[in-house]
Amino acid sequence: MTNAKLLTDDVRQVATGWLNNHFTGRQREKILLGLPEWDGRMRLWRVALVSSQDTSVPIGELQVSYDGKICHFPSPKIVSERLFVTNGEKGKRSRKRDSAITFPATPNKVILGDCRDVLQNFPPESAQLVFTSPPYFNAKSEYAEYVNYDAYLDFLGEAFSACHSVLAEGRFLVVNLSPVLVRRTSRSTASKRLPIPFDLHPILNTIGFEFIDDIIWRKPEGAGWHLGRGRRFAADRQPLQYKPVTVTEYVMVYRKKTDRLIDWNLRNHPDPLAVEESRILGEYEKINVWEITPASHKAHPAVFPDELVNRVVRYYSFRGDSVLDPFAGIGTVGRVASSLERRFILIEKRSDYFEEIRYQLTDLFASSPIDFDDVHYFGSADTDSDHI
Ligand SMILES: C[S@@+](CC[C@H](N)C(=O)[O-])C[C@H]1O[C@@H](n2cnc3c(N)ncnc32)[C@H](O)[C@@H]1O
Repeated sequence: MTNAKLLTDDVRQVATGWLNNHFTGRQREKILLGLPEWDGRMRLWRVALVSSQDTSVPIGELQVSYDGKICHFPSPKIVSERLFVTNGEKGKRSRKRDSAITFPATPNKVILGDCRDVLQNFPPESAQLVFTSPPYFNAKSEYAEYVNYDAYLDFLGEAFSACHSVLAEGRFLVVNLSPVLVRRTSRSTASKRLPIPFDLHPILNTIGFEFIDDIIWRKPEGAGWHLGRGRRFAADRQPLQYKPVTVTEYVMVYRKKTDRLIDWNLRNHPDPLAVEESRILGEYEKINVWEITPASHKAHPAVFPDELVNRVVRYYSFRGDSVLDPFAGIGTVGRVASSLERRFILIEKRSDYFEEIRYQLTDLFASSPIDFDDVHYFGSADTDSDHI
């Protein structure tokens, strides 16, 4: 027996007793118990306290020992405050219909322009997955254009806010990023690593994305050595000089905030057959460290490896969904997504990369033409490949 003598009903009774001792009247009525869960490692029961107005958000937790004693409880004052906040926020939200989701059927599109402008013209819910890798600040001189780091973060905020407006409710935003090295300019200055993923996180949270997962993309030994990091330490072995060679990037996974569970996205999908046929059968990656060899391409300095796109698209979308890449480069997301029977919306600011997408995808899609839109200059697309 792992959970000793108690049954869930016994645990509920103990927890109810605690609630009745600490809350009265209307306030007591508004606090409900979640399902008691046995924590085998700590050998205790955990019971979430939730507000009757919004049972999805815990407002506290009671812990009950295997022999039926309350062994940890939240401060009643904090529970009251959380109850107040949850009720206040819930009251402000409008009631939503619980009917099947519908998506506008966007054809495959490739658009030349600044994603912040282009996305203004898209209807809400036109993308069911966003997967992208934005410029890594000024790391690649090919598209380095930010006045400073703050201006860069503002730019990311605007771009992801535009993505939020077109992403369907409860669907995923997956962003590939990593801290970036800013080299020192002289012997008397130090190099810096800018923590882009960590600075982007609060921005995404404020925009309305909920953090789901951090996946580490690990490259084979050897990747990263060319940056020269760690050479000084390797020679001197002085503490404080230690700097590991970077062989990873982040794949940050977010969901457009909603009070609906992922089950709702599955059950209300307009095409149940597509949901069934999108099951990931056979082998799949079980841990959050993905070993994938980077890719290179003569036309672009920072392309996605197909395998990375393949995993993200299969794990976070259904057949027939529209996958948006607002920083499309040479269109790897579109090419791989369509091989997995998804549609795509690609936006790229540079005309030479846009032409490369046209070159790569036109033949592949002879039977279902793509809508190439190169009139969306919006005044800010770069028609000159040498624009640094
Ligand atoms: C890291 S690369 C993406 C490469 C892409 N994942 C691939 O596999 O080809 C980022 C791309 O974003 C483009 N870009 C930068 N600012 C943009 C903007 N405001 N709107 C659209 N594209 C932009 C850059 O020109 C660059 O090609």
